[in-house]
Amino acid sequence: MNDFDYLGEGEVYLDAACQSLRPRHVIDAINKYYTDHNSCGERVKYKWGIETDEKVEDTRAKVLKFLKLSPRKYTVSFTLNTTYGINLILSQLKADKFKKVITTEIEHNSPFLATIAFSERTGLPREVVKRNEDGSISIDSCNFADAVVAMNCASNFDGRKLLNIKDVIKAVHKAGGIIIIDAAQAMAHSVDILRGMEPDAICFSAHKLYAPSLGVIVWRDELMDDMVQGFVGGGMVDDVEESAYVLSATGKEHRYTRFESGLQAWGEIVGLGAALDWLNELPKKDWQNLKNNYTELFDFLSSSDKVHLVNHEANPTISFYVDGLDSHLLGTALSRENIMARTGYFCVHYYLDHVLGMPPLVRFSLGLHNRPEDVDKVKKVMEKIIY
Ligand SMILES: Cc1ncc(COP(=O)(O)O)c(C=O)c1O
Repeated sequence: MNDFDYLGEGEVYLDAACQSLRPRHVIDAINKYYTDHNSCGERVKYKWGIETDEKVEDTRAKVLKFLKLSPRKYTVSFTLNTTYGINLILSQLKADKFKKVITTEIEHNSPFLATIAFSERTGLPREVVKRNEDGSISIDSCNFADAVVAMNCASNFDGRKLLNIKDVIKAVHKAGGIIIIDAAQAMAHSVDILRGMEPDAICFSAHKLYAPSLGVIVWRDELMDDMVQGFVGGGMVDDVEESAYVLSATGKEHRYTRFESGLQAWGEIVGLGAALDWLNELPKKDWQNLKNNYTELFDFLSSSDKVHLVNHEANPTISFYVDGLDSHLLGTALSRENIMARTGYFCVHYYLDHVLGMPPLVRFSLGLHNRPEDVDKVKKVMEKIIY
């Protein structure tokens, strides 16, 4: 079966960094939840609820397995998206445990703004550190002492990766800090960089991972010691009195409730489990196809002197602008040809606009749904528009 058989002839979707297309397997799993066992998880004793509970627990286990993290050390909680996850953590951290907050210059607004808000709330100073061209950090130039650190391990405009992630985590921990990794872009196509890494939290968006719209926080159990619970509600208490409550999440099995107040997106959680199964079983040729496609597109764009690439190397996410051509107009022209690409600063205003001084850009972000003929078409249309 073609997992993306709903794509129309000539429709070229190049916005996978925002939301991946969902394979049939995932869509079927969500539909099955709604038609076969539509029920609330974790509260319901009838059989539909039991099936939902089993599938939700499976998804938690699959997320940890996908990341090669131990359930003895880490807990998986579901939320709305990456942004929500990062904010949920930062807004509940105890200020008196830390001396500063650190982020990096190439961040999406998601950690970038959340670290500004954290600094404003706590009065702690904030530092924005540089990333090298290859995405790594020069650790020697950073002072991580008692710092809260939040940074991505793959960027959303050129896919550059935090190549020395292991050493960064080690350095932060050695200095008494904690580190939250924004894995929004890494999970789908660069998860290898993250596997087995042990930061204090990993936040990602399932909607960039061939799964439904959903956020995930994977967190080290000790993180709770640094937090004061301030976002509370149904599903997380054992007892409630007139002016007090007892949180239920004392044992390991219920620890995930600490970030899950209120009803969750059960169908989406089930869909994430299906997406992880699908990714785990994907034949090598599909990964090779993705690589061929983005390499060909990168080589094509690199060969034109009118095109200015932000990327230093081929990657599923490629950003650029074209001499004398407004990127938004180019995006509209591409759309007329049924090519769906993003234009602007992709929520990386600070780095792309203020540090690099780039004009608004075009972003082609490819995914496993792209076919070789998509690349042929983009090349043909770009040639027609540019020359
Ligand atoms: C690197 C990175 N971080 C965070 C986000 C925010 O993701 P969401 O909007 O799903 O919260 C994005 C979204 O594109 C991203 O690419």
